[in-house]
Amino acid sequence: MNIILLGPPGAGKGTQAVRLEDEHGMVQLSTGDMLRAAVKAGTPIGVQAKAVMDAGELVSDEIVSGLIGERLDQLGDDVSVIFDGYPRTAAQADALDTILSDRGRKLDHVIELLVEEDALVDRITGRFSCGNCGAGYHDRYKLPKVADTCDQCGGHDFKRRPDDNEETVRTRMAEYRAKTAPILPIYDARGIVTRVDGMAPIDQVNDAIEAVLTPAG
Ligand code: AP5
Ligand code: ZN
Repeated sequence: MNIILLGPPGAGKGTQAVRLEDEHGMVQLSTGDMLRAAVKAGTPIGVQAKAVMDAGELVSDEIVSGLIGERLDQLGDDVSVIFDGYPRTAAQADALDTILSDRGRKLDHVIELLVEEDALVDRITGRFSCGNCGAGYHDRYKLPKVADTCDQCGGHDFKRRPDDNEETVRTRMAEYRAKTAPILPIYDARGIVTRVDGMAPIDQVNDAIEAVLTPAG
């Protein structure tokens, strides 16, 4: 199965993708994570992408589609994939069609997380993650069970993303409205879009996505 999680910054794409990995053995392909890894490793792609990401703008279509193709080639044909943060432009949506068909895959579902923009700034500016294992947290909505200790690995080193400040978040949202939201009609025309209330608590959002992936009866 191949699905896209679509929604603006802070909609909960990453949070839900990790749940689906745990519950279904699916693999999350996040272009944001791939780019951050490239920045950290100082690869040529990372060097090129860093300033663009820090400004909240979009990295080039060629770079991100290249990363997705490479990553898919490392997975077995039977591995189910969650695209998180990709595609983000009409050119990327076209590229994904080719990438999937070249590998004998097809797109099963596009899940759009519906959210209120004002809540997103709060979600994003409160977000942090474990510097050791990457587990995600939030100052108010998802604190570690034991203070300053990662639930998953017991680590004590937490970090925040450089693009998670209010000004950059506003640019990221404008990019979403201008370039990403317009690709939804492509998938609507194929009848594969399900809209889920992304303002509900994390568990409820997960339940709604589960209902799409494994319909009752
Ligand atoms: P990327 O890493 O993809 O960031 P994004 O789209 O801005 O999305 P986020 O990771 O901010 O949000 P999310 O929806 O995953 O929310 P999360 O689950 O963390 O991209 C970063 C940058 O890389 C881009 O700006 C661009 O420069 C570049 N880039 C990446 N892909 C690209 C592409 N394809 N093309 C071009 N450039 C690209 O949740 C947020 C917080 O809210 C968390 O703290 C979480 O705990 C909390 N939360 C989640 N769900 C709920 C809930 N239901 N209720 C309450 N709190 C919740
Ligand atoms: Zn950890």
